[in-house]
Order: sequence, then C-alpha cells, then structure tokens
Amino acid sequence: MFRLENVTYEYQAGVKALADVSLHIPRGCWAAVIGANGSGKSTMARHLNGLLAATSGRVLVDGRDVNEYANVQQLRRKVGIVFQNPDNQIVGNSVEEDVAFGPENLGVPRDEMRRRITEVLGMVGLVGREKADPNNLSGGQKQRLAIAGALAMQPEALILDEATAMLDPVGAAEVLEVLRRLHAGGMTIVMITHSMAEVAEAELAVVMANGRLQMAAPPAEIFRREQELRGWHIELPPVTQLGNMLGMKGCLSLDELLTRLDVGR
Ligand SMILES: Nc1ncnc2c1ncn2[C@@H]1O[C@H](COP(=O)(O)OP(=O)(O)O)[C@@H](O)[C@H]1O
Ligand SMILES: [Mg+2]
Repeated sequence: MFRLENVTYEYQAGVKALADVSLHIPRGCWAAVIGANGSGKSTMARHLNGLLAATSGRVLVDGRDVNEYANVQQLRRKVGIVFQNPDNQIVGNSVEEDVAFGPENLGVPRDEMRRRITEVLGMVGLVGREKADPNNLSGGQKQRLAIAGALAMQPEALILDEATAMLDPVGAAEVLEVLRRLHAGGMTIVMITHSMAEVAEAELAVVMANGRLQMAAPPAEIFRREQELRGWHIELPPVTQLGNMLGMKGCLSLDELLTRLDVGR
C-alpha cells in the first residue's frame, strides 16, 4: 500500500527530518510507528497522504508515485489521517454533520450520504449519537468521530498520528477496539504511538530515531532488542522487560509470558 524509497525531507535546508527512509507497508497491514519526540514520525506520516512532498526519494501509494496523482485531494481521499487533538478535528455542529463534511465537499448525493453516515457511525460505535453536539462527546468519542469522518471518504488506509495520546485509558481502549475491527475488515492502518501496549497489537513495528528508520519488523522481534530501543529513548512494557530479564525474550503480553514460563493459572 505504501512504499518509501530513500525518502529524505528537509523543513529547511540542511535540517533533515527524514533521512534516507525506505519502508514497505503492505495493503491490509497494521503498522505501528514508534520513536522519541522529534524522530520524524509525523513527518513520515504526512508523506503518506501528500501533506508533505519528499525533498528527495520517492513515495508510492498503491503502486503509484504520489507525484503522479492528478490532484492531492485524490490522494487524501485514499488515505485518511487522524491527529492527536480531538478538539481540533471537529468540523460540524452535530455528529452527523461532522461526518458528512468531507463527502459533502465531494458532492456525494443525499441518499448515499445517509448510507455512509449510518455505516461509518456503526463502525466506530456512535450509532444513536447522530444529533449530539460533538463538543459534548468524551475524548474517546471525539476521536472515534474523527475516524468516522475519515472513513466517510471511503479511504483505503488510515493514518493515526498519536490519536490516543490525549485520551484517558477508557477512551484509548475504545479507539483501539475500532482499529481492531477496521483491521479485521482489511483496512491498512499506520498508527503512530508512544503506547507499547498498542504497538504489541500491530503486525509491523517501525522504529524511528533521528529521522532514520532503525528497524521494521514484527513487534515480538522488536521487543527483544531492549538495549537498542533504550538508546533511542523507547521503553518496553514492564511485562516485556520482565520476560527479557527471565530469558523469555520479546513477550507481547502477560498471558504470553506466563505461557512461555509454563506457569499454570
Ligand atoms: N514545521 C516544521 N518546521 C521545521 N522543523 C520541523 C517542523 N516540524 C517538525 N520539524 C522538525 O523535524 C523533526 C521531526 O519532527 P516530527 O516529524 O514532528 O517528529 P515526531 O513526530 O517523531 O515527534 C524534528 O527535529 C522537528 O523539530
Ligand atoms: Mg509527531
């Protein structure tokens, strides 16, 4: 779905936010991007839907160079993006208006619009809240509304740039549940996160440091490399650290650790 080939990006001459990044994220993959603040995660995410254009190198979306898309709107429709702050993404006076905003701008007819609103609110668990004022929703609900807004454009991939960072644990869990459902339905997901528990759910973990891609592998493999990660200011979940200490490297969950330790429960 996404292919980066030797992508370098400079915000101003000489300051590299991305340096020679090459990465493949297959269609249907759930990828998690991790790394310290300033490591280039958001810059990378913004290349995936044409918000930024590489200074050098190539970005392919769905096999096509992003520069070959007739217009950037076409690319943004294909790749939805959800940002960190739930309050900054509200564009409607009601939940349904908010969802309708994007498709309306594309001139989607009324019947089709109703159908899409019902469908995407179902996907994010907001059915029954159509008339609610988005400002009165919880943080988790607001982010699910932002996801619904992105889904209403019928994208082929969804990017979440620290979309759970400002949420309480319940809100974050709600968003994650939506992502699980979308992933099961075949959606390509690129999730930037500082939560290692969330990374454990992904199929591919992508580690960024200093604008460079350091590792791209399944989380279990990444989680074995505790010392290197620490050098890039990435801290593993306590259960993984404990497992690594006990020689059961790369455990993703308590259940996995206990199973591997053969502790009956
Ligand atoms: N608009 C900008 N102008 C100049 N430099 C920027 C801008 N946005 C980000 N940067 C710099 O680019 C680097 C990567 O930033 P970013 O991609 O936001 O990292 P992350 O999302 O991992 O925190 C950082 O050094 C940051 O200071
Ligand atoms: Mg960022």
